[in-house]
Amino acid sequence: MSTSQGRSARFTGKSILVTGAASGIGLAVANAFAAEGGRLVLADLNAAGAEGAASQIRNNGGEAVATALDVADFAQCEAAVALAVARYGRLDIAINNAGMPSVITPEFEDFSLEAWRRLIDVNLGGVFYCLKAQVPALKAAGGGAIVNTASVASLVAAPGMAAYVASKHGVAGLTKAAALDLIRYRIRVNAVCPGMIRTPMLGPLLEDAQAMQHIAGQMPIGRVGEAEEVARTVLFLASDEASYMVGALLTVDGGVVLQ
Ligand SMILES: NC(=O)c1ccc[n+]([C@@H]2O[C@H](COP(=O)([O-])OP(=O)(O)OC[C@H]3O[C@@H](n4cnc5c(N)ncnc54)[C@H](O)[C@@H]3O)[C@@H](O)[C@H]2O)c1
Repeated sequence: MSTSQGRSARFTGKSILVTGAASGIGLAVANAFAAEGGRLVLADLNAAGAEGAASQIRNNGGEAVATALDVADFAQCEAAVALAVARYGRLDIAINNAGMPSVITPEFEDFSLEAWRRLIDVNLGGVFYCLKAQVPALKAAGGGAIVNTASVASLVAAPGMAAYVASKHGVAGLTKAAALDLIRYRIRVNAVCPGMIRTPMLGPLLEDAQAMQHIAGQMPIGRVGEAEEVARTVLFLASDEASYMVGALLTVDGGVVLQ
């Protein structure tokens, strides 16, 4: 079904939790679900950003509530799920998207223990804590869909960022393991693997037109991606259109992992 009418019915009335929803890919995902009738909980470390995004959705006639969430804190992950259940009576879909970038250390051993621990606890631990908190609610709903934001760094390495690469390879493994354990409860778990996407995570690079042009030139498709292009894939994986997809890692990367 590819008519806009068909798409617009995909998420009507669904209770959907999005982490990292204040910015970039998570924000685009939240807006896309809202445009298709989803009832949203927007969770983010940046509470003000999540509230701003939720009020924008409400102003456009959608349904959304925001909450502060550090995904590295299991109790806060449980609270975000409880908010969805309290507001909407159930949880149908969870998008575990929150993540942090890595500092880059050209010398491997210069990566600090503190930076390693925080990055692993947010990017990998955070996905596990969210899954653990979400599963009871999804089971109670009789099934549902989870989409984790992995990365091309789940599939290949990049220089100077061992913790990020390890965390995202971990997300890939966690996605497959959870998918295997949960499909008997009609809970489908999949992941999207974005390549280079134009979001605030790119930091100062975004302001550097020459660097951005250089990066674009390294992409087989000749440009960086947009958050909305990842969001469309996330919505597909969360929808019934992906009904036979279990534990898939879907690249949205302009072909960068092919080379
Ligand atoms: N932008 C890219 O090129 C790219 C590529 C591959 C994967 N990703 C992944 O996509 C996801 C979204 O990143 P983005 O590019 O939209 O970046 P972004 O910085 O625009 O958004 C990330 C959001 O996550 C939130 N966040 C960070 N730490 C958190 C925590 N501990 N608890 C809750 N929220 C937290 C931030 O406040 C922010 O709103 C991340 O998992 C990232 O690793 C991004």
